[in-house]
Amino acid sequence: MPETVTGAQKGTKKGTPGEHPMADTLTIIDNRTEKDFEYPIMYGTYPEYGAAIPAKDIRAIKATETDFGMLCYDPGFTNTASCKSAITFIDGEKGILRYRGYPIEQLAEKSNYLEVAYLTLFGELPTKDELDRWTYDVTHHTYLHENMKELMAAFRYDAHPMGMFVSAIAALSTFYPEARTIDDPEIRIKQIQRLVAKVGTVAAFAYRHSRGLPYVYPDNELSFAGNFLAMMYRTSEAKYEPNPILEKVLDVLFILHVDHEQNCSANAMRAVGSSHADPYCSLSAAAAALYGPLHGGANEMVLRMLREIGKVENIPGYIQRVKAGDFRLMGFGHRVYKNYDPRARILRELAPEVFKVTGTNPMLDIAIELERIALEDDYFVSRNLYPNVDFYSGIIYQALGFPVAMFPVLFAIPRTAGWLAQWLEMLQDSDQRIARPRQVYIGYDERKYEPIGKRD
Ligand code: ACO
Repeated sequence: MPETVTGAQKGTKKGTPGEHPMADTLTIIDNRTEKDFEYPIMYGTYPEYGAAIPAKDIRAIKATETDFGMLCYDPGFTNTASCKSAITFIDGEKGILRYRGYPIEQLAEKSNYLEVAYLTLFGELPTKDELDRWTYDVTHHTYLHENMKELMAAFRYDAHPMGMFVSAIAALSTFYPEARTIDDPEIRIKQIQRLVAKVGTVAAFAYRHSRGLPYVYPDNELSFAGNFLAMMYRTSEAKYEPNPILEKVLDVLFILHVDHEQNCSANAMRAVGSSHADPYCSLSAAAAALYGPLHGGANEMVLRMLREIGKVENIPGYIQRVKAGDFRLMGFGHRVYKNYDPRARILRELAPEVFKVTGTNPMLDIAIELERIALEDDYFVSRNLYPNVDFYSGIIYQALGFPVAMFPVLFAIPRTAGWLAQWLEMLQDSDQRIARPRQVYIGYDERKYEPIGKRD
């Protein structure tokens, strides 16, 4: 009979933070020692998601009294819950995305970006007064210090806007040294207002720089999305009037990109923030994570693919090559969604609205036909490959006049609210400590240093 070790906490009736009716525990038997270990199972809001055992207690599993203890090997954290979170819920099998419990479809239809940012950051939909105050505060923090203009102007004429964005956000920390006092709630909120407000200005300045155009200052009379369009595109007109349909579509695009729980960039925000770096430097690190093509760059690949296909008649041949394994269908498939990405569905409906204003684009016809054929094809159906958000976002961004290099920057603007929500939640969670994973060391045992003349 194995000996039972309960040092690894005996199971309890209730896991934290949610309650679960069963007296659930997990028992692990160590065949090396024949001891078994019992762990309480912790649940989130839904028992079928997020059941976890405390990884630190696994350390009690030891082959000998003196060994370090058992670790979990999990490259890329694909099966590690790094936190408890109440911000975003995703059910990839069913194609569900909710911020603070509200379905993304309802938010996209009824809300606006600044309200969704408020909801994501502070947990509840604002009252009218709260929303007015928040909108006022964000609107009145969109200006950048004039020195920031000089800093942006110092980049090479062909600097990638995302490189400029990442650097400029980090540079902002030097203007607000009080931001380092991360345990003061008022100071934290001030930095949140500044960051949500200023990312749009930084992004637009990066674009104007790459075009050799003068920077356009924010217009406080416009909406968040309208002001961004003005800072991007205003030329000699005294007052830039954004097209209301395009302004609305951009606002919806912002809503769809606010948060997506513990992805690579949210994890970077939390990891850097866990060292108590100020929010500007932490957010710059998160934006750097987003810059990578495996995270924020797939919509560019979709555009290239649609251009390569060229016309609707070429689609069946292209699909054959995908099925033969020559390449993947860009904008299809997702690590989490094994159903239609709900964000893609919203964008698919919005795309024709955009093209009514901007003029038709043959790429939309190719995309819709490609989707239709793929969704009827057993290769894609059997693998649960559905369009993801990037399938339509690139086509819409392009119709709105954004160059491809701006796509990750456009992603970073609204994701700033999500990153800051993750940061705030991390700072307020007493379970959180500095991010410091372990490793399984596979290098040499101790070796003797040889002088250079004695080495082979
Ligand atoms: N086209 C054709 N086949 C595909 C595709 C695709 N887009 N995606 C996956 N498959 C196939 C794989 O070849 C594999 O087939 P097999 O079982 O015969 O070997 C099967 O589906 C499972 O594929 P995995 O790579 O295991 O799926 P995973 O979940 O790891 O990949 C990923 C997800 C990376 C997004 C993948 O679907 C892909 O490469 N898609 C195209 C790129 C893309 O659109 N990325 C954007 C993602 S959304 C975002 O990041 C915001």
